Amino acid sequence: MSTEEHRLRSRAWFDDPSDPGMTAIYLERYLNYGMTLDELRSGKPIIGIAQSGSDLSPCNRHHLTLAGRVRDGIIAAGGVPLEFPTHPIQETGKRPGAALDRNLAYLGLVELLYGYPIDGVVLTIGCDKTTPAQLMAAATVNIPAIALSVGPMLNGWYDGKRTGSGTIIWKARELLATGEIDHAQFLELVASSTNSVGFCNTMGTASTMNSLTEALGMELPGGAAIPAAYRQRAQFAYETGSRIVELVRDNVLPSDILTRDAFLNAIAVNSAIGGSTNAPIHLQAVARHMGVELSLADWEEHGRDLPLLVNLQPAGEYLGEDFYRAGGVPAVVNQLMRAGRIRQDALTVSGATIGDNCRDATIADPAVIRPIDEPLKEHAGFAVMTGNIFDAAIMKTSVIDDAFRDRYLSDPDDPDAFEGRAVVFDGPEDYHRRIETEPGIDEHSILFMRGAGPIGYPGAAEVVNMQPPAALLHAGIESLPCVGDGRQSGTSGSPSILNASPEAAAGGNLAVLRTGDPIRVDLRRGRVDLLLDDAEIACRRTALDESGGYPMPESQTPWQQLHRAGVGQMDTGMVIEDAVEFQRIAQRRGLP
Ligand code: FES
Ligand code: MG
Repeated sequence: MSTEEHRLRSRAWFDDPSDPGMTAIYLERYLNYGMTLDELRSGKPIIGIAQSGSDLSPCNRHHLTLAGRVRDGIIAAGGVPLEFPTHPIQETGKRPGAALDRNLAYLGLVELLYGYPIDGVVLTIGCDKTTPAQLMAAATVNIPAIALSVGPMLNGWYDGKRTGSGTIIWKARELLATGEIDHAQFLELVASSTNSVGFCNTMGTASTMNSLTEALGMELPGGAAIPAAYRQRAQFAYETGSRIVELVRDNVLPSDILTRDAFLNAIAVNSAIGGSTNAPIHLQAVARHMGVELSLADWEEHGRDLPLLVNLQPAGEYLGEDFYRAGGVPAVVNQLMRAGRIRQDALTVSGATIGDNCRDATIADPAVIRPIDEPLKEHAGFAVMTGNIFDAAIMKTSVIDDAFRDRYLSDPDDPDAFEGRAVVFDGPEDYHRRIETEPGIDEHSILFMRGAGPIGYPGAAEVVNMQPPAALLHAGIESLPCVGDGRQSGTSGSPSILNASPEAAAGGNLAVLRTGDPIRVDLRRGRVDLLLDDAEIACRRTALDESGGYPMPESQTPWQQLHRAGVGQMDTGMVIEDAVEFQRIAQRRGLP
């Protein structure tokens, strides 16, 4: 639709001839800091800048600076910028967990986008949950939107080696536990990964979700990987600001971009980049708020067989600056196009298709981004698991290393399966209390974490990747298989089975598991089974239900309570189900 044909929604506030009284009320307060009547009334698109940076969200804090260039771009293209804060989310500092705040930030942003005179919006994405929260809101309100990544931090270095966000913490904890470094060295090592503004420089959830936003077509090409501190990042912010004005003029909506093809492209890219195990949860959530059919089965069907191309920690060696220099997301998409695995006609915010955007993208450093026919690993996507203790869970197969394979998958008759005894923990506090003293944990143990899902630990805790006790670490066993109804940090390289749904607190059979139970994991068939007969499992279930069900801790805040009452499970995106239901009805009715 052209400019002439569609009336900007901000006109209902600032230029409503049928109600000059209300128009005056809407207008007058925006004048108090120096806005002019001409800016508000001349028919220029009003562009929101949804500001996610603050002192409370250091990963996104650089957006406070970048917003200056976004504004310049908006004004140069003939728009009027209005910057406003979003609910801050800081992944590592928010108790009990940042994922609890994703749906809160989503609901908050929906209200802002719906209730104020905004014609289009720049979504300032970065830290893990800030990205899906904003995409979910843009999908719900469906006004023109464009994402701007804040960009990764510069590479971290220690002793001449790259140290990556998060990943170095898992490593440093092992070194501290085995006494190889003291506490001061531990802190020095951890701090070395943080060299500048920006988000985690590993392929954790932040780099993953920013890359997938670009793959979805919601960010201009090349935008995900530019380091936050580079001048190219500020230049990109300017271009993003001017582009959103065009998107408003052309009335290009999130629903034009966030199609099923776009989501399938994002799933393909996620395999090639070695993306985080949080990606399925967030992508499901965005899809559900957009009303697009997507399920975990799509991850298995469209992602599992694809190879790992990007050599970034935790699965590989390099970091964010290297990814940018090597070509970033467009180079990855180009390789996937060669394999026929990108739906090239998907429209992007550039105005061109993803195929057109990436057709000429090249790899500048094949050590960092591998060509499709020389991948780092074959079949690097997620395996979707099921069994008799949960319906769905995922496993990041790209992080299964040789040591894990030798220890657990070496039976020549059945090279994809292993058996062990369960050691069961009820939440992270229980794990920390018992891991060093629990008798009988050995290399045949499988660690289970429950009470860590969306309801049991509101928002779901990133705690499934559990370190073995110090005695095993000393014996050279760096990891045990872990299974649970919580999540795992995207920066962890642990081969865990995660996001088990339904969780123990929602009636899942993880709740009836006991320490010592025999377990079989079969990766090829995608099953995790408790090796007890069905009658015994049913009997335990009845006993637990009669005793009042799986015990849950009290909520500590009103939002925790509301979240628990309304949230769905991780396999369907951990969304507020009523919000999706509302949207289904609103879409049928036609959005305002
Ligand atoms: Fe915010 Fe990693 S903790 S980006
Ligand atoms: Mg994380």
